[in-house]
Amino acid sequence: MCGIVGFTGNNQAAPILLDGLSKLEYRGYDSAGIAVRNGEAETEVIKEKGKLKVLAEMTNDGKAVKGTCGIGHTRWATHGDPSAVNAHPHSSDDGNVIAVHNGIIENYQEQREKLIKKGYSFKSQTDTEVAVKLIDYYYKKYSNEPIEALSHAMMRIRGSYALCVMFKDYPGEIYCARKDSPMIIGIADDESYVASDVPAILKYTRKVYYIGNMEIAKLEKGNVIFYNIDSEIIEKPLTEIKWDAASAEKGGYEHFMLKEIHEQPKVIRDTVNSVVKDGIVHFDSVTLTDDEIKALDQVYIIACGSAYHVGMDLQYVIESLTSISVRVELASEFRYRDMKLKKNSLAIVISQSGETADSLAALRLAKDKGIKTLGIVNVVGSSIAREADNVFYTLAGPEISVATTKAYSCQLVAGYLLALQFAKTRDEIEDISYTKFLNEINTIPEKVEKILEDKVRLQWYSNKLVNISDAFFIGRGIDYAIGMEGSLKLKEISYIHSEAYAAGELKHGPISLIEDSTVVISVVTQDKLIEKTVSNMVEVKSRGAKVMAVTTVGNYFLEDTAEFVCYIPQIHSLFSGSLSVIPLQLISYYVSIGKGYDVDKPRNLAKSVTVE
Ligand code: AGP
Repeated sequence: MCGIVGFTGNNQAAPILLDGLSKLEYRGYDSAGIAVRNGEAETEVIKEKGKLKVLAEMTNDGKAVKGTCGIGHTRWATHGDPSAVNAHPHSSDDGNVIAVHNGIIENYQEQREKLIKKGYSFKSQTDTEVAVKLIDYYYKKYSNEPIEALSHAMMRIRGSYALCVMFKDYPGEIYCARKDSPMIIGIADDESYVASDVPAILKYTRKVYYIGNMEIAKLEKGNVIFYNIDSEIIEKPLTEIKWDAASAEKGGYEHFMLKEIHEQPKVIRDTVNSVVKDGIVHFDSVTLTDDEIKALDQVYIIACGSAYHVGMDLQYVIESLTSISVRVELASEFRYRDMKLKKNSLAIVISQSGETADSLAALRLAKDKGIKTLGIVNVVGSSIAREADNVFYTLAGPEISVATTKAYSCQLVAGYLLALQFAKTRDEIEDISYTKFLNEINTIPEKVEKILEDKVRLQWYSNKLVNISDAFFIGRGIDYAIGMEGSLKLKEISYIHSEAYAAGELKHGPISLIEDSTVVISVVTQDKLIEKTVSNMVEVKSRGAKVMAVTTVGNYFLEDTAEFVCYIPQIHSLFSGSLSVIPLQLISYYVSIGKGYDVDKPRNLAKSVTVE
């Protein structure tokens, strides 16, 4: 997704903008640009296709661009190919309005035609240029007043946007407008900042405001004024970011992904400890009453990508520990279905970023249908966290690598704890079992640590996969859910085609794809299903497949069938997903670096998909 930054203060803006954009590179982009204004002088706009280093070379790391007020942008192309002319910032022809934008203006064609009839022309193929000229039109129509201009433009724009705008007549000021796309505003002595995400401003300030949907902000040096869509001033609380800057850096690892894989023991422990006190789970932030939990007969888990795979795992855990039935839905499907939702149900939306457009839309749909909502979210103050009725924050810390690992693992344990607490509240679990399960969950960090000690063997095996073109992941129950995550990890960072199949489904078609040397990675940890999955492994091996297995220590007989076996420590099968996913994360990582790819910023992907 695009990244936006803005600064106004007493220091030179360009170096601050470039530094902020570098902290947003993980969002994925193909061009970049900045606009900087030096007092009353003309605003200087520098933008180009390519990575930030192109901009740094053009501006001598920003030193060649003078001015203490500016905005910047990294563009992930949606409308119009990656090019200098389509790069942001975009300006009105007379330079009156200059802006950067993250999001999608869905009715930009319609607005573009109207503006052409009013005498406007367009240089780029972007929706953003249309937004800029729409703002310019209303600025000139309504007494040259920025808030009025933005407010009228917002009422006509359909879609999503995080906009930073500079007006020629208002030097030193930046105006922001938001709907659905992420935006955070920071403040320090005589300085104000705006960005798409926390890492871009954390170096400068921890004091932040969360601008809401359909709200406008006016940034002056060290002061921010907020307005609603009716141009009325509104008060916003100033909050403190708890992250430390170091945790947003690599910490000595070659890639963020490897660092974040190794952070999993700690952040899983932090997430568990955030709600477990004296052997009891306390969900203070989850305001569901005991009666509401007792009345629940249906849970809908709604998410995208890896977060969806968390739901695929949790359905087995919740249905095993309680009498609640669970449906797991892809947010992009859920939001467009006219699903008949049960009255006594809970919609759990899982999202690391808390800004995924489809998941946010699904949350809103569930709320519109009168369903209680709970967000399992990693980013404090994100849209899903703020709009859900309840929120359970995972404590994974900033996750920079596009391929999620630690946030995924924290979401899993968050789900275990919710399931456990639901069971206890509904008197569906004996105290002794509750304690036993909680103790099992508490062993996950040390067991993950143990698996990480096996990474050299996994790297050796991964090197054998570097040149394959296909891979299959098979499993049953929770193992199937983990296979889905392993398959996504491999395809998203090593670009190898892979598919996850319920092992029992192979004979219904996919087995026709198995031929000599096809790689099949099987996840085999569910006690009651091991024999079934082993017979599927034998089926594919007899057709020439190269079989690898992730299984629980003790299942040594699998070595008769699999050419490579990775063992995870013993754990109750309900929680084995937290362990069996670790080798799959490492395998994907090592295959990707073996292919020489950019592990943290894979092609075509963004860390947070804030557009449909
Ligand atoms: C997973 O590695 C991917 N980055 C992607 O599937 C991601 O899980 C998905 O886009 C959901 O993101 P969210 O958790 O921020 O909503």
